[in-house]
Amino acid sequence: MCGIIGILGNSPAVPRLMESLRRLEYRGYDSAGVATLDDGILDRRRAPGKLSALDAALASEPLAGNSGIGHTRWATHGQPTVTNAHPHMTDTVAVVHNGIIENFKSLKAELTAKAVSFEGETDTEVVTRLITQYLAEGLSPRDAFQTTLGRLQGAFALCVLISGNDDLMFGAREGSPLVVGLGTGENYLGSDAMALASLSNRLIYLEEGDWVEVTRNEVKTFDRNNNPVKRAGTISQVAATMIDKGNHRHFMQKEIFEQPTVVAQVLGRYLDPNAGTINLPDMPFDLATVPKITLVACGTSFYAAQVARYWIEKIARVPVEVDIASEFRYRDPVYQDGGLAIFISQSGETMDTLAALRHAKDAGQHIAVIVNVTGSSMAREADLVMPIHAGPEIGVASTKAFTCQLAVLAAFSVALAKAKGQIDDDAVTAYVSELERTPKLMAQILAGDEEIAAIAAKISNARDILFVGRGIHFPIAMEGALKLKEISYIHAEGYAAGELKHGPIALIDENVPVIGIAPNDALAEKTVSNLQEIMARKGKVVLFSDDAAANHEGMLAHFTMPSGGDLITPILYALPVQLLSYHAAVEKGTDVDMPRNLAKSVTVE
Ligand code: G6P
Repeated sequence: MCGIIGILGNSPAVPRLMESLRRLEYRGYDSAGVATLDDGILDRRRAPGKLSALDAALASEPLAGNSGIGHTRWATHGQPTVTNAHPHMTDTVAVVHNGIIENFKSLKAELTAKAVSFEGETDTEVVTRLITQYLAEGLSPRDAFQTTLGRLQGAFALCVLISGNDDLMFGAREGSPLVVGLGTGENYLGSDAMALASLSNRLIYLEEGDWVEVTRNEVKTFDRNNNPVKRAGTISQVAATMIDKGNHRHFMQKEIFEQPTVVAQVLGRYLDPNAGTINLPDMPFDLATVPKITLVACGTSFYAAQVARYWIEKIARVPVEVDIASEFRYRDPVYQDGGLAIFISQSGETMDTLAALRHAKDAGQHIAVIVNVTGSSMAREADLVMPIHAGPEIGVASTKAFTCQLAVLAAFSVALAKAKGQIDDDAVTAYVSELERTPKLMAQILAGDEEIAAIAAKISNARDILFVGRGIHFPIAMEGALKLKEISYIHAEGYAAGELKHGPIALIDENVPVIGIAPNDALAEKTVSNLQEIMARKGKVVLFSDDAAANHEGMLAHFTMPSGGDLITPILYALPVQLLSYHAAVEKGTDVDMPRNLAKSVTVE
């Protein structure tokens, strides 16, 4: 993934590059670096670790110049060392790159045979060396860049500066996002609208295969065949102000506590409480004739898809297939004519999900996306966009985006059921009023924060933790386990409660806490029996349930949830597992908002 930024400006570049990198840090924080052009001379500073390390490097050795490029890295090829940090540079060329150059080994071998030496292990360095070589052979900067692009295979967004050319920057997009920002007597390139928000809201989204030659007063765009093309401009809605944590210790905590507000907001867009109806965006196809739904996503968004399967099957009686994006397109999925494929992604940029979307699109499926970032690649390539209106989510572990995705998916499921004639207007109205209760019930759960923090303190020293649930709450158990391992580094797994006895129960002893997600529904008794089986084997059970009469004897802890209807319980039960993970991570002293090895937007396969 990685985040890139490029500025051809009229004031010192470094503070502006750093501001943009702060906005891009969610894409990776293994290392960061900037290079500037000052009087035609390239220079750079790089540092492993988070941006603060680069800040320190720049404080001790400042960089002058009004043009510059910057990079925040999520390591793919080569460890997060200074040497492998971007920008990669020779005396003549500086490059930042997001993506993977798949044929870098053969290019490296070719260059090595010509006595070109390499500094580090990254795939990106071949780009720097190739451009340098073509320039040395006498090609113009434009020809050197264009010829280099023709040699590259894989996914890349690139931003390039060339020494002696103070008013020139190149960019290219192939598989990884790149956006042009238009200024007044200045121009910019960045991975996304967020990176450019402090610089410009006048944007041009490049298309796959596009490359650009940028000067302060002009942006020339070419397609993959090097033909000049015009791409439409757009005005970004991303706020220029940097989002802060408010009174919260971490962004994740802030985002957990924002949920009653943002879920109310998104429901406000999809529900009409007065009419008791659901308002989906205008449909470019007829929902009533859709024979099958395919749901595809990664990470937390995948668990939202899994919850939605239960809703769609149960309420709308439409066959649903759910898969992880990285598996989906490689297993030759069987599509049905007229089928609807829905891709769920907070960022709208996750490479695996985007590639799966293109696979389904090529197969002629109707394409819908449920995204937070409405200017994202997925949103631009879909037939139907269903925004989740969660606002910027900064914590790497997704929280409010998850519950907003669920809110949209619940509304969609009800609308689909109505379109299919499975439910009548009264049933829709009943579902609408149930959904309307969600924000208030969420606020009630969040009021139990301290109680959940005390439970977290009891489990935070465990090495392994299991989360169990049944039916629609099985995906919530998996999401709970994902959240916990992401930020606290405690090994955790989510299981269908009934499956424990088929293997995982062998793991249970007095050191393994088991978190039970057991709302008082048709399956509650069965889940509680499974928890009894765990306690009989000395397992330590923590129960999240709204069954006030439940027998808590022998349990490590329990938390009483408010009761919601069957439709909204998975949305409600997402909250206690978020809080549990958050507090366990705080107990352990990990970096909650930027957990090790992760990034918020994963734009590599
Ligand atoms: C990364 C993040 C996860 C996220 C997943 C999918 O792995 O760390 O929190 O759930 O990507 O991201 P998306 O933007 O597609 O929802």
